Amino acid sequence: MAIKNLDWSKLGFGYIQTDYRYEAHYKDGKWDEGKLLTDPNIVMNECACVLQYAQTVFEGLKAYRTEDGRIVTFRPDLNAERMADSAETLVMPPYPKDKFIEAVIKTVKANEDWVPPFGSGASLYIRPFMFGYDSIIGVTPANEYKFRILTTPVGPYFKLGFKPLQLCVSDLNRAAPNGTGHIKAGLNYAMSLRAHEFAHSRGFDENMFTDPATSTKVEETGGANFLFITKDNKVVTPKSSSILPSITRRSLIYVAKEYLGMEVEEREVFVEELADFKECGLCGTAAVISPVGKIIDHDKLIMFPGSEHPEDSVTNKLYQTLTGIQMGKIEAPEGWIYEIK
Ligand code: PLP
Ligand code: COI
Repeated sequence: MAIKNLDWSKLGFGYIQTDYRYEAHYKDGKWDEGKLLTDPNIVMNECACVLQYAQTVFEGLKAYRTEDGRIVTFRPDLNAERMADSAETLVMPPYPKDKFIEAVIKTVKANEDWVPPFGSGASLYIRPFMFGYDSIIGVTPANEYKFRILTTPVGPYFKLGFKPLQLCVSDLNRAAPNGTGHIKAGLNYAMSLRAHEFAHSRGFDENMFTDPATSTKVEETGGANFLFITKDNKVVTPKSSSILPSITRRSLIYVAKEYLGMEVEEREVFVEELADFKECGLCGTAAVISPVGKIIDHDKLIMFPGSEHPEDSVTNKLYQTLTGIQMGKIEAPEGWIYEIK
């Protein structure tokens, strides 16, 4: 057992194949025991429900190596619950929570040499996913499903070095006006790709989605929720039923209140009021919390002055506290950290 010899500090957010993955199969109304596999490939029929009708959901969480050499993961119970909610929305059988947590722990343990060293800025990304497996041609849910977990070591999702991001607001929506961003399903992400390409081709890091009905309210980006800091140091975060209920956001709200003594408001946030905020950050498992420097809304430029010196920002305090908890440097609230033994 030895940590792999990779240049961890140079790692971006990409796929690197690791040694083991987990698979369980659902057939005749029940999940089988599940097991670790070495083959990263999945063979399925051309008519598999996932290929035809995008019946697939996924999750994302990370494992970290702590300063004292333990391997831990962060709130996998919440990923299990959210995946079950997403599955229910797409008429898929939920994977049981206790089995989900056990499978995450087993998969990370099997790939422990791929968990990056403490202090390298990298972590092991864990991607549980589930999909309709058998052949379906009429529009109905599948009868058989596969639940899998892959792991891949990753560096930062956005630019290295906490550099402020630049976003734009396009007129492209992800979904129908009722929004479907609150489930973590493949089809939502496919629907966000056009906006992603719009932003990238114009030199921006991300697109900021607004509410599909009125385009006046802030929603989220393709892979993260928003947090704003007011000039009097309150945390404000958008309330919307069509954004993904981010586990990082829920954790940061707790950190802001209980560790940093800040006031937090979850409310509708209008694009028109963005210029009043001091700071803006994107939060998520992949994004952690990444500062945003400016947003271009069509011909309007919105600047966040607090992000000019990100190292002195409230965003950075939130980042340091959350990652300190995740990597065992700061005492975590009860039940947040699961040790991989
Ligand atoms: N919003 C979207 C669309 C996402 O894909 C993610 C990432 O999972 C998030 C928000 C952040 O959620 P979490 O903090 O649970 O990773
Ligand atoms: C995550 O943060 O886990 C995500 O799913 C974001 C993105 C990689 C889709």
